[in-house]
Amino acid sequence: MAVQTIETKTTEEFLGKVLSDTSAFTTIVLAAVGDRLGLYKELAARGPATSAELASRAGIAERYAREWLGAMASAGYLIYDPDDRRFSLPSQYSPIIAQEGAPYFFGGIHQMVLGMSKPVDRLIEAFKTGGGVTQSSYDDDMWDGLERFTNGWFENLLLQQWIPAMPLVEAKLKKGAQVADVGCGRGRALIKLAEAFPTSTYIGFDAFAPTIERARQNAADAGVGDRIRFEARDCAQGLPATYDVITTFDVIHDAVDPAGLLKAIRRALKPDGVYVCLDINCSDRLEENAGPLGALAKRLGRSGSPSPSSASSAPRPGSPACDACRSRIRSTTSTNCVRNHDRVAGGPSVLALLAPAAFIT
Ligand SMILES: C[S@@+](CC[C@H](N)C(=O)[O-])C[C@H]1O[C@@H](n2cnc3c(N)ncnc32)[C@H](O)[C@@H]1O
Repeated sequence: MAVQTIETKTTEEFLGKVLSDTSAFTTIVLAAVGDRLGLYKELAARGPATSAELASRAGIAERYAREWLGAMASAGYLIYDPDDRRFSLPSQYSPIIAQEGAPYFFGGIHQMVLGMSKPVDRLIEAFKTGGGVTQSSYDDDMWDGLERFTNGWFENLLLQQWIPAMPLVEAKLKKGAQVADVGCGRGRALIKLAEAFPTSTYIGFDAFAPTIERARQNAADAGVGDRIRFEARDCAQGLPATYDVITTFDVIHDAVDPAGLLKAIRRALKPDGVYVCLDINCSDRLEENAGPLGALAKRLGRSGSPSPSSASSAPRPGSPACDACRSRIRSTTSTNCVRNHDRVAGGPSVLALLAPAAFIT
């Protein structure tokens, strides 16, 4: 990863940056409103619309449709044709904001950002006291948004890219492995694995009990409810058995005690077991985390997202994720390392690591 320095700007340049960030925040709030009301999907499915047409098609008030369309066109999310006063969503933009389940769909992230900002008073209190903000302080926008966001990975990358890049894991899954997904959220990764590798058995753990209820329901809806068990558990306190494969998808950076969680995972691996860790590929050196993904990861990891255990458990100081992973996972090779988002120049990406049991200290 290229080392970046955090640049000094003139007051005027900095003003431009703050203006653009402030404008971007308001754009994302309105984008989340449009996502919730299905406005992007409506424009993608049925083509350009005037404000009156969109209002009628989507069942919303014309005045609000007009304001929303104007704001989205000004922000560059929609194209406005002054001749017929219609607004359109270019087909190239559709996968990013209108296509549920596409690999880089942002609707879930926008919903999550909206949900994340709601308990801001508790967050401010936590800044003062050093405590945490409980997961239950966040409403469904946070958890629905997260599920929609990471579901894009599991629908598009898990079976197509990540598992094939890890032949050892693939062989175990095909043969029949005992698999534990730590921090399973709403169970989407395990559901895909259970569908693809029916000879293996699966258990998902998550410290947040309400998410476990939703995971059970999702597995039942997908027809694999009999092959996946889910259990509410803080895995940093230990796992109840040993497993051939343990996975964490986007979890370690969220943990109150990342090193403790990794130790517990190490103890729960069978002697020839394998740990699969997907997490933010960032650095514990701030200057290497510059750029949009670095800033987003920092905000999600420290200022915005909930700490998992209790109000008294403070997030650990430091950078979000992989400093803990890297110091605990001694070695990986390029063949078992899958990177995504490398298209974004510099700064963090998402990294999947494969670590045989012996390599976790
Ligand atoms: C960002 S979410 C990812 C959820 C899921 N893996 C996905 O990709 O959708 C991180 C999850 O890790 C869980 N988690 C964090 N620390 C945990 C711990 N010590 N034990 C169990 N779950 C934990 C959180 O409750 C949360 O559901």
